[in-house]
Amino acid sequence: MPWFAPAYPAFSPTAHPYLTIRPLAPQEAGPLQAVFQDLSARSRQLRYHTPLAALRPAMVRHLTDVDPSRHVALVAALGGRPVGIGRWLRDPFRPTEAELAVEIIDRWHGAGIGTAIAAEAARHASRAGVQTFVAHIDPVNSAARAWARALGATPNPDDPDQVRLAVSALAAGLPRHHPAA
Ligand SMILES: CC(C)(COP(=O)(O)OP(=O)(O)OC[C@H]1O[C@@H](n2cnc3c(N)ncnc32)[C@H](O)[C@@H]1OP(=O)(O)O)[C@@H](O)C(=O)NCCC(=O)NCCS
Repeated sequence: MPWFAPAYPAFSPTAHPYLTIRPLAPQEAGPLQAVFQDLSARSRQLRYHTPLAALRPAMVRHLTDVDPSRHVALVAALGGRPVGIGRWLRDPFRPTEAELAVEIIDRWHGAGIGTAIAAEAARHASRAGVQTFVAHIDPVNSAARAWARALGATPNPDDPDQVRLAVSALAAGLPRHHPAA
């Protein structure tokens, strides 16, 4: 697959006619900043595990340092406007594992976009040989915990902040509670 793949519909036209998901290009900060601007303070805190008024330049460099073999970020857009970003980053010490992190702007929570991005991330990661996604989700983040559970994640009994998810199952198809997919 070419790295600059064209955007394509993530859902059926009846479900989300204008939703597209595409890989972020290397050093492409625009969609990252646009999504961050539209996140509530609480969502920023839950995603980045610290209160953040802005993304620091070093964070932007890190978050846009994408490479199809180790770090893929996917931008979801509605009508061309970025509404969410999801990414996987390979664990350099356990190459079959990758961290999964997703942020959807608050006004679009609950519309299935986080699920669509996670499934697409799994397809990319699976092709790159990743077998397990690890997500760090604060136990108080009940929405993200429920989202991860719906994707098939299980808690890591040794780490209350971590859930684990089989990439192949997620890549195989969207969960059944999205019948339109
Ligand atoms: C967690 C997050 C990514 C979920 O994305 P989303 O697009 O809102 O989630 P979806 O619409 O795909 O939800 C899928 C399922 O997750 C569960 N879910 C999602 N939000 C939920 C909520 N607030 N309460 C209960 N269950 C919820 C439901 O089972 C839902 O399925 P349903 O709609 O059929 O009931 C989003 O809330 C977010 O960006 N939060 C802030 C950042 C964050 O916490 N990131 C951590 C993730 S690594």
